Amino acid sequence: MGIISSTLFALLASGNRVVSVKDTYGGTSAIFTEYMPKYRIDAVQCDTADHDQIEAEIAKGCTLLYLETPTNPTTKIIDIARLSKVAHAQGAVVVVDNTAATPINQNPLQLGADVVVHSATKFLGGHADALGGVACGSKHLIDPIHHYREIHGAVLDPMSAYLLLRGMKTLDLRVKRQNESAMRIARFLETHPAVDRVFYPGLDSHPGHAIATRQMSGFGGILSFILKENSLGAAGRLIPHLRFAHAAGNLGAVETIVAPPATSSHVECTPEERARLGIPEGLIRYSTGIEDVEDLIDDLASALRGL
Ligand SMILES: Cc1ncc(COP(=O)(O)O)c(C=O)c1O
Repeated sequence: MGIISSTLFALLASGNRVVSVKDTYGGTSAIFTEYMPKYRIDAVQCDTADHDQIEAEIAKGCTLLYLETPTNPTTKIIDIARLSKVAHAQGAVVVVDNTAATPINQNPLQLGADVVVHSATKFLGGHADALGGVACGSKHLIDPIHHYREIHGAVLDPMSAYLLLRGMKTLDLRVKRQNESAMRIARFLETHPAVDRVFYPGLDSHPGHAIATRQMSGFGGILSFILKENSLGAAGRLIPHLRFAHAAGNLGAVETIVAPPATSSHVECTPEERARLGIPEGLIRYSTGIEDVEDLIDDLASALRGL
């Protein structure tokens, strides 16, 4: 969050207008709703998959377009190339949070974005043992972000820097394995009688599949699903039966991690707010680790049988 807030506050000034989407990470959304108004920056959050609405808002005036794709936890997909073109025609800077995709699966700068941000806490570090973030882009944009970050103090401590660098050496291996396993698990869940719906951009049934196929070289390690009994109670009964998956709020690590967004990433939203974001109460987010995929599938099969 330090690098995301540094990027936004370094590049924006009062009177500016930000166009973004409703499904940005909760902390980022809080910057738009709680802090931008304080600095008289207008921030509009569009329906995430409604490209026409996003384009219409950009046309009304836009200093900065802020996107996140795939989103967390429902893996919605936004067309980076299409919207970057429209935003640039308005003279806007395009920022993309690429945390869920990772640089192995998606390169927003090549698709037209100007700045890419990552929570390095997730896949980049990959071991759930360090917090950090990165921003990438041209020097004329990164210099003011760097300066803001230095003055406001969101600097990385040396131990975290060491752990993140060490983790990144295996990023390519880990992410490719996570891509393959998540695809297998998504297909397994999609055909399971106890599962109502699976959200994974690699599935043909995903509404963003065509865009994801164009702009991503792998579909990532994160998927989510709802059981036929779509309730927090049902999710709460399933999760303790998983032996491999850790119940935790993090994602993108070597260990598989599961959590219902209703009690983790989106615990601060009311049920109505979650409903508006299209997050079912019984949704289970599954961040695939690097364990043997047969073990992960057996684990899910046996927990689902236990229901
Ligand atoms: C997409 C995305 N961006 C940013 C963040 C914030 O990351 P951090 O916890 O490293 O501040 C998260 C955390 O979950 C995230 O999922």
